[in-house]
Amino acid sequence: MNFSQTLFALKQQHLYRSAKVVDSGCVNFCSNDYLGLKNHSQVIKAFKEGADEFGVGSGAAHLVSGHSKAHQALEEALAKYTKQQRVLLFSSGYSANLGVFSALKSKLDWVVQDKLNHASLIDANQLIGLPVQRYLHNDTNSLKKKIQKQTGQGLVVTDSIFSMDGDSANIDQLSTIAKHSNAWFMQDDAHGFGMKTPHIPSHSIYMATLGKAAGTMGAFVAGDEEFIEFLIQKSRPYIYTTAIAPALCMAALKSLELIQQGTQQQKLRANIDYFYIFSQTLGLPIAHSKSAIQPLIVGNNEKALMISKTLLKQGFFVKAIRSPTVPQGTERLRITLSANHTKTQIAQLLTQIKNAL
Ligand SMILES: Cc1ncc(COP(=O)(O)O)c(C=O)c1O
Repeated sequence: MNFSQTLFALKQQHLYRSAKVVDSGCVNFCSNDYLGLKNHSQVIKAFKEGADEFGVGSGAAHLVSGHSKAHQALEEALAKYTKQQRVLLFSSGYSANLGVFSALKSKLDWVVQDKLNHASLIDANQLIGLPVQRYLHNDTNSLKKKIQKQTGQGLVVTDSIFSMDGDSANIDQLSTIAKHSNAWFMQDDAHGFGMKTPHIPSHSIYMATLGKAAGTMGAFVAGDEEFIEFLIQKSRPYIYTTAIAPALCMAALKSLELIQQGTQQQKLRANIDYFYIFSQTLGLPIAHSKSAIQPLIVGNNEKALMISKTLLKQGFFVKAIRSPTVPQGTERLRITLSANHTKTQIAQLLTQIKNAL
């Protein structure tokens, strides 16, 4: 086994990936914990109580003996919150997307996806052996053109908020186009869940994760009763894996309560507004994203890495997002805002970015 050439080439191209141990002394501007719930005292308390009651793990897959009353309560609470007939928990958003596609494999003739959809949706598409067909980002005409060429049962899929740009899909328009061509419609709301009220067209498929704004871990699919029953029978990433810890479900239930109170969202919205105004004052080329995800395009891998490293030395953790994760030429810093950032931290970060540029 010899991997050194590949590793060397990745280093040469500034594409080498490594996990950094998070330094608590740094201000984190690249977490998806948008609402600051990951460390919220009430969420931690619920998690601890859950561990006391249920133990640390779930012990088995849902269909064996891993489905505790905490899982059941969370599924019911999420169904109520999303106003859907039923919800099914998965261990991550990645496996939920694989789970939906793998269950639908024998039903689908084609899939069309937004060009900027998350990697897990692309992998899910590849898993079922159908060609990955992508329409231009957020472009309904391009979607219509792609659909015209298809025959049989189709699926139109979009991220709800795009993970690298922070912009939103027009769910109503896209689902209507899908409906007119008798295709099914699916949205991945990984970055929207908890931030805005879920908007789910009737008889469509909704996926969201609990590891981002909810501050915990796991994911769920919501939809019609019959569709969820179908997933239980056919979704291998649901059937053949250990259920998430019941304590996590208790924590997520508390997060859901706090999400519905709305206090953290208000703080986040104020931070998003402040970030925009201050970046404009400094003349920084930041696209106006209304979400917590704020991309600063720098245009090449090396430069993105260099700025990220400089910021780290100054105490700010901001991740460089390189190609091929984003299209070549759009390499960037992906800044994510949290409800718990202070205005001073935001102002300091932007000033340091300005200096680094
Ligand atoms: C749009 C989108 N979908 C799915 C996922 C995967 O979710 P998870 O991290 O829970 O596996 C992500 C994670 O980054 C994402 O951004």
